Amino acid sequence: MIAVTGSASGIGAAVVPALRAEGHDVIGVDLRDAQVRADLGTPDGRQRAIDGVLDRCGGSLEGLVLCAGLGPHTPDPVRIIEVNYRGAVTVLDGLFPALRTAAVAVSSSASTMVRWADNPIARGEEAAALADAGEYRGQLAYAWSKNALTVAVRSRVAEWGAAGVRLNTVAPGAVDTPLLAGGLADPRYGDAIRNYRAPIPRHGRPAEVAALIVYLLGPRAGYVHGAQFMIDGGSDALMRPTEF
Ligand code: NAI
Repeated sequence: MIAVTGSASGIGAAVVPALRAEGHDVIGVDLRDAQVRADLGTPDGRQRAIDGVLDRCGGSLEGLVLCAGLGPHTPDPVRIIEVNYRGAVTVLDGLFPALRTAAVAVSSSASTMVRWADNPIARGEEAAALADAGEYRGQLAYAWSKNALTVAVRSRVAEWGAAGVRLNTVAPGAVDTPLLAGGLADPRYGDAIRNYRAPIPRHGRPAEVAALIVYLLGPRAGYVHGAQFMIDGGSDALMRPTEF
């Protein structure tokens, strides 16, 4: 059994049939339209998600995919960090003892747009930093949350590797989902997202990200651990050819 958060929409909704096509049973976790309904933005909701998955898998989970997330246009930027970072990491740690094979967290190309040393989440100072962030607070909260998520994954490689459970992130660029549509429609961020170009001149498709996630969960990725896979049509290489 493989648990998928954010299974009701976008990338998560594409991961579910891709896993089923490989013969897996899937436990969906989302605010709605899922076997386990829970709000990953609150401590109670995270516990409900962990308990609900453990209940359904009988304490032994083959894989975990963390897709649930909020975009930069979300009105409350604190909630972006609560869902994208704390929600993801708490579920990851809560299900780790039950995990048998691998987990994949969906980070973002935005994770590379801030350095950990400059990320206020590293010092627990995000509330104060957001108060000073002006109209870019949603974008900053989003980049900080995804940078912190990727750092959290990379920081767990020793413990997870020793337990025989692989852990990786995928970092999409712009992918055609309701989250992207929400950002494009926001007058503060729409132009910045439109100006984020990819050498492959289109948005990514949820099924393309799902295919990478299915590969990372499977036996052909048996030596892939602690890696972040950009899936961005070449944007990162275009912008930063000498940094990787
Ligand atoms: P989406 O909005 O289509 O799907 C996100 C899902 O997460 C929804 O079903 C939503 O109900 C669920 N969710 C949101 N808040 C939740 C909460 N508090 N508790 C439980 N579930 C919650 O978005 P999309 O694009 O599929 O995003 C999936 C992941 O991919 C997110 O983590 C996002 O940050 C990331 N991503 C998306 C990109 C894009 O361009 N679409 C680019 C880079 C990363």
